[in-house]
Amino acid sequence: MDAHALNKTAKALVAGDKGLLAMDESTPTANKRFVATGIAQTEEMRRAYRDMIVNAPGLGDFLNGAILVDETIRQTTRAGIPFAKALEKVGIIPGIKVDAGAKAMAAHPGEKITEGLDGLRDRLAEYVKLGARFAKWRAVITIGEGIPSHGCLEANALILAQYAALCQEAGIVPIVEPEVLMDGDHTMERCAEVTERTQHILFDQLVRQRVLLEGVILKPNMVVPGLKCPRQNTNEEIADATINCLLRTVPAAVPGVAFLSGGQTGELASARLSAMNARFKGRMPWGLAFSFARAIQEPAMQIWHGEDANVQAAQKALVHRARCNVAARRGEYTPEMEKQ
Ligand code: G3H
Repeated sequence: MDAHALNKTAKALVAGDKGLLAMDESTPTANKRFVATGIAQTEEMRRAYRDMIVNAPGLGDFLNGAILVDETIRQTTRAGIPFAKALEKVGIIPGIKVDAGAKAMAAHPGEKITEGLDGLRDRLAEYVKLGARFAKWRAVITIGEGIPSHGCLEANALILAQYAALCQEAGIVPIVEPEVLMDGDHTMERCAEVTERTQHILFDQLVRQRVLLEGVILKPNMVVPGLKCPRQNTNEEIADATINCLLRTVPAAVPGVAFLSGGQTGELASARLSAMNARFKGRMPWGLAFSFARAIQEPAMQIWHGEDANVQAAQKALVHRARCNVAARRGEYTPEMEKQ
C-alpha cells in the first residue's frame, strides 16, 4: 500500500472549494428515474445522458471527482473517448461504485446489508486498469421501531471496512458511505443519535481492519429530521447537529467528508452545506464537501428529457447546481443564486 499516494488522492478529492458528483446510479435506479421523467430506459439513453453530463462546459471548474458505475466506465462518450478518460481530460478524477446494492438482511426485519465483497479484489484490479482512482460503497441504515439494531450497524461497518482495506491494497481511495435514511417520522435528535452510533462503529471497524484513515473519505448523511416528522428544523439547527456529530466521530486524520443528498432538494442541500461551512469555519479538521447525485442532477435530467435539442440547457442546469455547491463549500450560498 502506498500511503502517500492514497493520502494525495484523498486530499485531491476534497481540495479547494470543489466537490464530487455521484453519477453512479445502478441500471435499475437509473431506469426508475428515467421512467419518472419519461425517458426511454435503454443502455444508449443512459450513455447519452452521462455523455451530456461529462461534456457539460466548465464542469471541471466545480468538481474534483465523479463516481461512475460499471456500465459507464466500460463505455465511450459519443466522441469515442472512454468516460474515465473524458473526465480526466477536464481535470475530474474518475471513481467507481463497487458495491452490489443493499439487500434484505437475514434475521433482521426491515434492515439491509450491502453485498459485493465476493471477487472485489479482482474487480478493483480491473477498475484500476479502466482508470478509476477512487471507489464508493454505500451501506443503508433505516430508522424505525427498534431499529437500527446493533447487529445491522456492526455487520455493515465490518463490510465497509473490508471493502476499504481491499481498495487501499489496490491503490484506490475508498469512499465509505453509511447512509442513515431520511424515511420516517423520526426527529432530528433521533437521526443525530443513530448517525453518531453508526459512525462510531464504522470508525472502530476501519481501525480494526487496518484501514489508513489518511486515505479515506467519509460520505455521510446530514443530520436531518425524517421526511414525515412534523417538526422540520432550520438549516442552522441541521448544520449544528451535523457538525457536532462529525466532530465527535470523525478522526482529524481523515482528509475529507463529502455529503450525500439523500433526497433533499438541490436548494436545501446547498443551503445546509453552506450553513455548516459558514458556522464552523476554521473549526473543522477535515474538508467539508459534497458528493451529491440527485441534488446536482435532478433539474438537468428533467430538462434533458432524452432530447439532443435540450442538451445545452440541461448542461447549464447541471453546472448551475455544481456552482451553487461550490459556493456552499465557501459558506457563501444564498437563495438569490437560484435566480441567476
Ligand atoms: O449512494 C448514493 C449517492 O452516491 C448519493 O446520492 O445524493 O442522491 O443521495 P444522493
